[in-house]
Amino acid sequence: MSTAPTEPGSFESRLRQSAAQTETLLLDLLSPAPLDGETTRPQALLAAMRHGTLNGGKRLRPFLVVESAALFGADHHAALRIGAALECMHCYSLIHDDLPAMDDDDLRRGQPTVHKAFDEATAILAGDSLLTYAFDIVAAPETALAAQSKIDLTLMLARAAGIGGMAGGQALDLAAEKSAPDEAGIRMLQAMKTGALLRFACEAGPVIAGATDDDRLRLRAFGEKIGLAFQLADDLLDVTSDTATLGKAAGKDAGRGKGTLVGLHGIEWAEAQLDLLTQEAVSLLSPYGEKAAILQHAARFVANRKS
Ligand code: IPE
Ligand code: IPE
Ligand code: MG
Ligand code: MG
Ligand code: MG
Repeated sequence: MSTAPTEPGSFESRLRQSAAQTETLLLDLLSPAPLDGETTRPQALLAAMRHGTLNGGKRLRPFLVVESAALFGADHHAALRIGAALECMHCYSLIHDDLPAMDDDDLRRGQPTVHKAFDEATAILAGDSLLTYAFDIVAAPETALAAQSKIDLTLMLARAAGIGGMAGGQALDLAAEKSAPDEAGIRMLQAMKTGALLRFACEAGPVIAGATDDDRLRLRAFGEKIGLAFQLADDLLDVTSDTATLGKAAGKDAGRGKGTLVGLHGIEWAEAQLDLLTQEAVSLLSPYGEKAAILQHAARFVANRKS
């Protein structure tokens, strides 16, 4: 069994190290050779998938999988693979989110969006393929987990990404452009469109490790807090930051009539709310003591991030 790197280092160096490992794995997963049961990997489609996946990004979700798994002593390589599966799901959501039919954005991670670099049909299919590949990576024999753990993770990921999770949240987000939701409506759509995948990231750790139901519930609650904080920070950065820093267009939410809590309550309220969510997230992990320090730091990072 492989274990997580023991060198404690700073939070930033751990995040960088985990991102590099995730990228190495994604590069391998997105290589041209077809897998057993595949016929061929069409070159332009693969190039679009790689463009949408290997183009930077903070790799925060895989990091949360790896660190929430390490908290319970799970196999590091299995956790990395589940993290890579989740990153494929996330990158698919970004490729589709940027399409003209959705947010219509030209810039992502400092580069042209996939439909700009290729074309819309290829971007749709690259998203479809990444979504499907996420489940392939969970199920594949290279993911050294018990069959029941793979089934549990598959179900969790499906529920986090589908109609009652990310995709459903994206539908509510688009509907909110036409008819403004109230605060409860905004919180719900954000918990779905962004929160669900972050919740999965944190809850996956104890499942990979075969930890107790109590641990699973605690990490799920932690994931829900940082999920809300993550989208609140995203909406805040849309107002307070700039395109060069973000690597994606800033200042677009208000113009498009996006329902956001920043729009409803303003910047100061959002900053105070981020502090509150961070405190709540940090205290949820206090039963684990020092071992949880890295995840607690991740909660602060989510709230204070600059891109
Ligand atoms: C952006 O996610 C989309 C949202 C859910 C708000 P990230 O900010 O994690 O994007 P990358 O992966 O680092 O580019
Ligand atoms: C994105 O929310 C949520 C998903 C991609 C599921 P946003 O539309 O606010 O994300 P950005 O700002 O384009 O990254
Ligand atoms: Mg969007
Ligand atoms: Mg968007
Ligand atoms: Mg945004």
